[in-house]
Amino acid sequence: MQYEQARSWLEEDWRRVDDALTGQTARFRGKRILVTGAAGFLGFNFLHYFSHLNTDGSGSEPVRVVAADNYLRGRPKWIVEIVQMDPNITLSRCDITQPWPGTKFDYDFIIHAASIASPTFYRKYPLQTLDANVLGIRQMLELGRKHNVESILYFSSSEIYGDPPPDEIPTKESYRGNVACVGPRACYDESKRLGETLCYLYSRQFNVPIKIVRPFNNYGPGLRLNDGRVLSDFCRDVLSGRDIVLKSDGLASRTFCYASDALTGYLLMLLSPYNGQPLNIGADAPEITMREMAGLVLKVARSERNVVFEASHEPDYLTDNPQRRCPDISQARTVLGFNPQVGLEQGLLRMLEWYRNLSEDDR
Ligand SMILES: NC(=O)c1ccc[n+]([C@@H]2O[C@H](COP(=O)([O-])OP(=O)(O)OC[C@H]3O[C@@H](n4cnc5c(N)ncnc54)[C@H](O)[C@@H]3O)[C@@H](O)[C@H]2O)c1
Repeated sequence: MQYEQARSWLEEDWRRVDDALTGQTARFRGKRILVTGAAGFLGFNFLHYFSHLNTDGSGSEPVRVVAADNYLRGRPKWIVEIVQMDPNITLSRCDITQPWPGTKFDYDFIIHAASIASPTFYRKYPLQTLDANVLGIRQMLELGRKHNVESILYFSSSEIYGDPPPDEIPTKESYRGNVACVGPRACYDESKRLGETLCYLYSRQFNVPIKIVRPFNNYGPGLRLNDGRVLSDFCRDVLSGRDIVLKSDGLASRTFCYASDALTGYLLMLLSPYNGQPLNIGADAPEITMREMAGLVLKVARSERNVVFEASHEPDYLTDNPQRRCPDISQARTVLGFNPQVGLEQGLLRMLEWYRNLSEDDR
């Protein structure tokens, strides 16, 4: 499918976000937004949603977006195509841990999504991952403070909880975590924790309007097929007509939040006055084991293949992997009116359809 068609196919997702935001998107009109980590999975969703606002036929002032990324994981084709289609989006190749070039900084909103999220790749780039979550957010907070930015969004992670005991599942924001400060996941988990501390301090000391979200496993269009996260691995197997390979006993469980629901939560948070305190954003049901998830992906894909077990070639693949992860989202429901809409089967179907509609290079 051509990019233009693929993009219009996504409109169904964006209309769902419009409905959930009930007119609040007017606050983005005529504004300038800096999205860091824009070439990643969530960057894909932010950029396409803002571009949808620019082409909704309302004739309102456009949202101007600068998409910043250092392309540590390569430059995806879609990001070149989106700027060709929407002149209000521009690319900036930069490493956000380095000093900001020049003195000009005229953004109304900052969405700080830079930091590799896939365990396979953050183990490959541990120091870069740590820096994006510590030096990167510190720089965004400092720029936000100096230039009176309207609101900043920091992506923390459900990983800050580490491996919670069964009586802390579903996990509330008040749970303090069970995290290893040394080990192959520490670069991610501990830097997200320090990133939150920085946000809290900038909110307390300087009144910086910083919003902290703790995402729980998002999935959907925009997730690269070679990303190494569990659902992209499963989809890659079924799309190649192979058995699904489980690289564990498949008993660990997670909940999964479809991209348009997650995006709704992030935008509601960005536009909220909820400064300096973290909120879980994710789906609170169903909590599903990886073995069950593999079966569900086969069912949704109408594949006749099986689930097979094979050790990962990565020695640290399972080290410190949390056994269960499921958020308590009652705070986000109360504070933001956040209410995930897309069921797991529906979301998986859309994700698979998205991949199937793209050429192999675009996946
Ligand atoms: N997607 C999820 O389910 C999920 C879950 C928990 C937390 N998060 C967090 O949300 C954010 C976005 O997640 P994602 O899934 O889009 O990740 P991703 O790995 O798909 O994308 C991250 C992007 O950040 C860029 N980047 C990394 N370091 C950079 C730097 N120094 N300067 C500029 N760009 C840099 C990478 O090149 C990449 O394009 C991350 O902070 C991630 O940790 C995501």
